[in-house]
Amino acid sequence: MAATIIDGKAIAQSIRQELKKDVAELKRNGVTPGLAVILVGEDPASQTYVRNKDKACAEVGIHSEIYRYPAHLSEAELLAKVEELNQDNNIHGILVQLPLPAHISEDKVIDAISPEKDVDGFHPVNVGKMAIGKEAFYSCTPFGIIKMLERENISLEGKHAVVIGRSNIVGKPAALLALKESATVTVCHSRTKDLSAFTRQADIVIAAVGKAKFLKAEDLKPGAVVIDVGMNRDENGKLCGDVDFESAKQVAGAITPVPGGVGPMTITMLLFNTVQSVKQKAAMANSK
Ligand code: GUN
Repeated sequence: MAATIIDGKAIAQSIRQELKKDVAELKRNGVTPGLAVILVGEDPASQTYVRNKDKACAEVGIHSEIYRYPAHLSEAELLAKVEELNQDNNIHGILVQLPLPAHISEDKVIDAISPEKDVDGFHPVNVGKMAIGKEAFYSCTPFGIIKMLERENISLEGKHAVVIGRSNIVGKPAALLALKESATVTVCHSRTKDLSAFTRQADIVIAAVGKAKFLKAEDLKPGAVVIDVGMNRDENGKLCGDVDFESAKQVAGAITPVPGGVGPMTITMLLFNTVQSVKQKAAMANSK
C-alpha cells in the first residue's frame, strides 16, 4: 500500500489561521505581538529565511522588525542590540539568524537573549527545561515535527523513534521531544555504525542528515512513519530531502515530502512561540 503523504503545508496553513485569530484577539486586548529578527552579513540562504519570516509574520498580523547589519559588526554591538530588544516592551520574540560571522560567538549571543523572548528555543534555560520535560520555548523545527504528528493523529507513545542527526537545532531537541511524548528514542549520527540496522527497527524515522536522498526504501521498516528534515539539491539541482522519496513511499506508512513537509512547519512554530510569549507575559502580569 502506498504511504500517506503528510501535507505539512496544509497543516502549517491551518495552524497559521488559528494564530491569526489569536493575534486578532490579543490586538483587541491592546497588545500586538512583536518579533525582532537580527541578520548579520549577506549569506543568501539566511536572507531568504529572514524574508520568509517577515512575510509569515505579516500574514498572521505579528509586528516584525528586521535589523540588518554588515558582516563586520562587532560582537559588542550585537550584544548591545540584543540587550536593547530584551528591554523593549513591544518585542516579545528575538531571533538572531545563524550562522553568525566567525568573529562573533554564537554561544555568547544566544546566552544574551532573554529566555522569555527566546522564541527560537536555543537558550540553555529553554533547552534545559525541555530536557526535564517542562514547558519552554522549543526549537521550531522539532516542535513543528511533533505538532505535525499530533495533527495527523500519529502517536509517539511506546513507538521506537530513530533520530538521525545530533545538532542542537534539530537532532537533539527532536530526540528530547520524542522522549517527552513517551517514545523509545535512539539517536544516530555520522559516526553510527550500521545505521540501517537501527532505521530498519524504527516505527518513526526523523532524518536530519543533510545528504540528498540518503535514506532508501531498504533502510525502512514497512509501514514506518518517515519525517524528512533535509533541504538538499539533487543531481539535477532540484530541491530534495534526506530521504529517497520515490522509493521510500512504496514502503513507508506515512512520509513527509520535500518541499511541503517539515519546512512550512518551522516558521509556523516561530509564529506560535511568539504568540505564546505574549500570552505568558500576560499570565505573569496577572499573577503578580
Ligand atoms: N539558521 C538556520 N536555522 C535557523 C533557525 O531555526 N533559527 C536561527 N536563528 N537561525 C537559523
